[in-house]
Amino acid sequence: MFEHNLDPGTINALDAIGVSSGCDCLEVGPGGGSIAEWLCTKIGPEGKVTAVDLNTRLIDVLEYANLEARKLNVVTEDLPQREYDLVHPRFLLAHLHERESVLAKLSQTLWPGGWILVEEPDFGTEEPDPSGEASMRRLFKAGMAAIHKHLDN
Ligand SMILES: C[S@@+](CC[C@H](N)C(=O)[O-])C[C@H]1O[C@@H](n2cnc3c(N)ncnc32)[C@H](O)[C@@H]1O
Repeated sequence: MFEHNLDPGTINALDAIGVSSGCDCLEVGPGGGSIAEWLCTKIGPEGKVTAVDLNTRLIDVLEYANLEARKLNVVTEDLPQREYDLVHPRFLLAHLHERESVLAKLSQTLWPGGWILVEEPDFGTEEPDPSGEASMRRLFKAGMAAIHKHLDN
């Protein structure tokens, strides 16, 4: 699944940041919640993970005492300020026209010295493998054009 391909890189980065017992974390747009779950285990009972999403259906079924799901639109709604040690959006901002203002809003949720880990796809410089078949290169380009059209609307 999509998130499980991304998780090893994310976990490496979170370990490098030093996420550990007692951290207060804001997982933004958690989707299926694989990283929210990893954080809950990593930070233990002294920490807390707040997972905010337009749709918390997949988070609501996770059973962790230190996890709170909040149904919230990060574009239009307020977030707490200076509350978290870590904020983590992944594959979220690229989909939002308001990405710059949302990024600023997310940064303001951090304590001084807190970390924001932003992981977003690069839809601007991807190229198909030149050694691939021409039909696959055309398909890749058509897919990227569709993504750009979607992001522009
Ligand atoms: C592409 S998924 C990424 C899921 C997860 N971060 C991951 O990398 O596996 C984007 C997630 O952001 C949520 N989302 C999109 N727009 C949002 C918004 N304005 N406010 C809060 N969550 C949003 C979606 O509901 C979805 O769960």
